[in-house]
Order: sequence, then structure tokens, then C-alpha cells
Amino acid sequence: MNAAGSFGSVPVSPWPEGSVCLVGAGPGAADLLTLRAWHRLLQAEVVVHDRLLAPEVLALLPPDTERLDVGKAAGHHSVPQPQIQALLIEHARRGRRVLRLKGGDPYLFGRGGEEVQALLEAGIGVEVVSGVTAASGCGAAAGIPLTHRDLARHCVLLPGHFADDTAPDWAALAQPQQTRVFYMGVRRLAHIAAELQRHGLAPDTPAALVFDGTRESQSVVATGLAALAAQAPAYDERPGLLIVGETVRLSPHYREAEAVAPAAPPGGEHYGPADRARLQRLLAGRRDMRHFRRGQNIEPQTLDRLLQAANQAPSVGMMQPWRYLRVRDAALRERIADIVAAERDATAAALGERAADFLRLKVEGIRECAELLVAALPPDDGTVFGRRTMPREMVVCSLACSIQNLWLAARVENLGLGWVSMFEPARLAELLAMPAGAEPLAILCLGPVEAFYAAPMLEQEGWRTRRPWQDAVYEDVWGASPNSRASSV
Ligand SMILES: Cc1cc2nc3c(=O)[nH]c(=O)nc-3n(C[C@H](O)[C@H](O)[C@H](O)COP(=O)(O)O)c2cc1C
Repeated sequence: MNAAGSFGSVPVSPWPEGSVCLVGAGPGAADLLTLRAWHRLLQAEVVVHDRLLAPEVLALLPPDTERLDVGKAAGHHSVPQPQIQALLIEHARRGRRVLRLKGGDPYLFGRGGEEVQALLEAGIGVEVVSGVTAASGCGAAAGIPLTHRDLARHCVLLPGHFADDTAPDWAALAQPQQTRVFYMGVRRLAHIAAELQRHGLAPDTPAALVFDGTRESQSVVATGLAALAAQAPAYDERPGLLIVGETVRLSPHYREAEAVAPAAPPGGEHYGPADRARLQRLLAGRRDMRHFRRGQNIEPQTLDRLLQAANQAPSVGMMQPWRYLRVRDAALRERIADIVAAERDATAAALGERAADFLRLKVEGIRECAELLVAALPPDDGTVFGRRTMPREMVVCSLACSIQNLWLAARVENLGLGWVSMFEPARLAELLAMPAGAEPLAILCLGPVEAFYAAPMLEQEGWRTRRPWQDAVYEDVWGASPNSRASSV
């Protein structure tokens, strides 16, 4: 810094006497301070700081700067908040430049909002200089992105210590596609892990504890959420940031830990609770997708895996009564889209009053999806025992099983699948040159999506909600509910 108040060619705004500057000191490493924060540290006459500030940041203060430690440890306030505010006001009224130095960012869990309010009410000028918050600082230092196009569409920052009446919305936090960051999350780790799992998060969801993030003494423990919680008693007293979500998987710390973790049991032999939880999550997270990213492709090997999954479906008498027509010709796809559009208009017209609602909702995605597949029943070739004796419904059911396999296999490739109901099979059969006796059953839109819907679209749009499974299960006779077991899940 030079005397004129600039860093190189970067000018720094002036700081009036008799005012307070709330400065975010960042997550720990002194060189993560902003230039403005550094400037304010050099200009301040008195510094009011918290206990948890990294010594290397305090070391930047000129030796004659007065320092007041109003330090707070979790659950233990050494100077009550109103007194801190009074102290700031008092020093500012004496015409001094008062620096209120806080870890991280003053406006994120730092009670900066309250202090600014008190200062303004007292007629004291105030400036807030943001700092790198622990979530982004530690995330970067531990190799954990907070958001990621495929793994986490958003990120939630929460305090790690909370009273029972201010507990977070666990059900919302257990939803996929988000990174949850708990500040000072070590002490309540066991509770946080238990609540997240109780609300459906898989026990093996990647999770990390970052101690002394960004500082030389940084250490990271990364593994599955349940395992992390089980190891909790071994953690030390240092403040730690807890990060829970799929992006933790990208951290070298997690990869290292997983490499030495015992190998998962081989598929099909024995499944444990973690596998079960993942499957439940997959089932619960599968969605009928209607919005696709345009202009995308699916890798041929990926498509092969999906079609292989479809072919592994159960079928009556192992008849495998499924054929998939991959529509690659653009003109053909257009014609299919036109047929569906015409059907859609006809259905809307038949609905009368609710036509507008229907048209708003049914966004097929036929034009936008990466791959368009038509699932069809083959003609009865008469060669398989059982086919002639089985009702047509059995064949349809078998094809439905195959599509469900495809649907789930697509989900684990992070691809969406949307099922467009069949309308006029004859027209489509003709268009696709199907032989007599073959019948298209479904138009399947497949491809990358912007984001998976948090809930089925029909639920999101308020049309109807999924009924609980108990409503679909009777005991012995029709309508008799299985009360004795209903509460177990
Ligand atoms: C046989 C079948 C046909 C379907 N046809 C359509 C359709 O034409 N248009 C549509 O928007 N959704 C269609 N769906 C999707 C359902 O509306 C959707 O699966 C249901 O609302 C549950 O939502 P979820 O799959 O996201 O859990 C179909 C689903 C099935 C099983």
C-alpha cells in the first residue's frame, strides 16, 4: 500500500474517522483477505476481534494498533453481543476508526447484520467488507465444489449449532442435488447425520469435515456420512466445517479414503444397508422428465448400457416381447412430434375447461431430447411356448418392465427419460414401417436434462400427489388395509 491509499493501480476508498468497518477476515489463510480488508487492517486505530481469528491475520496489524479480544467460542460468549455493540459505538464516538474483525464473512452467521443495525441506530457510519466465507474457502482448499452441473444444482449454508426449535428443514435438506454446508458442524455431527438419514439421505452419501480450512494446519476427513459420524468421538476440538453431498466425491481426500475402504460386495451376492439405501434413493428419485437440454448427444456406450438394462427385464416365459426403434432421422422425428401435437390438441379439446391446464403441463420433449426411442411389441411369432396361452396384457406388462429398467438405468447415467403415451398406434406403426401384428406402445424421450424435478411434475403442478403405498395394499380381501404393518415404514 502507498500513502495515497492504493495497492498498485487499485484505488482503495477512504475511511472516515469516527466510523466502524466490519471486515471479513476470511476462512483462515491471511492471503485470502481482500485487498480492501488488508487496507482497513493497516488503517485501523482499534480492532475488535473474535477469538477464532487466525493468528496469521492478526499478525498483519501494525504493532501499535489497539486490539480488543471479545472472543466467542461455540456456546460460550465471553462478551455478550450488546456489549460488543456498545464497545464499537463508544470507540467510534471518540472519533476513532474502529475495525470489527470477524472470521469468514460478516454477513454470514457473523451477527454482522445486528451490529450494523445497532451502529446505524446510534448514528455511526459503517462499512462492511466481505470476506471469503468458510464454505467457499474450505471447499476450494479441500477440492470440494459447492455446486456442480451434474451433482449439485444448489448449495445450502447452515449453522452447525442450533437449538431444537430452530432446527433446519431436514426433509428439504435430504433432497438430492445439493451441497449442505454446516458451519461449526463437528459438535452436532452425530445429530445432523442421524436426521439427514432419517429423512432419506443414504448413509454412504459423501461427507467431509474440514478442520482449520485453508490454513497450513488444515486437515480433512472425508468418507460416507454414517462412517464420518461414527468416527466423531475421535475428532479434536478444532472448529470444523461439515460438507455433505455428492460433490465431496470429487475431493482427493475422499478418493483416497475410499480407495482404502473395503470393497463393496460383488453385485448380486449380498447387499448391505448402504446398497439398499442407494437403491431406495434411485427409486424415489426417478422422474418422468419432460424438459431436456437441446442439442445433446448420448455416448454410444452409454446407450448400449441402457438398452442392455432394458433387455435384462423379466418377461413372461422369457419371450422378451420388446423392440426399441431408435429414431435418428430428423424428418421422422418431426413427423412423430406432429402426430403427438395433433393428439395433444384433440385431448385438450376433449377436456374442455381444463384444456389450458393440460396444454401447459404436457411438454413432451420429443423435439429436444437427445434420443427418441419407440418401444414396440413385436408380432406374435408363435414360436415361444406360452405366448398363445397368455393374454395380451402379459406381453404389455413385460414391455413395461423393460421400460422401467431403462428408466432406472437412465437415471443412474444422470439422463432423463420421459414416457409419452401412445395415441394412434396404427399411424406410428405405418410411419416406422412395422410389420403386421407389431404395435408401438410408448414414445420414450431420453437425454441430458437441466435438472431432475424434485418431485413428480404432476405433484409440482398441483394436479395430484402420490398416494402412500399402504393405500395400494390390502390384506386377504379387497379393501382390507394392512394396519398391523402399516406403521413400520
Ligand atoms: C404408461 C405411462 C404413460 C405415460 N404417458 C405420459 C404422457 O403421455 N405424458 C406425460 O407427461 N407423462 C406421461 N407419463 C408419466 C407419468 O405422468 C408420471 O410417470 C407420473 O406422473 C409419476 O411421475 P414420476 O414418473 O416423475 O414419478 C406416463 C407414465 C406411464 C407409466
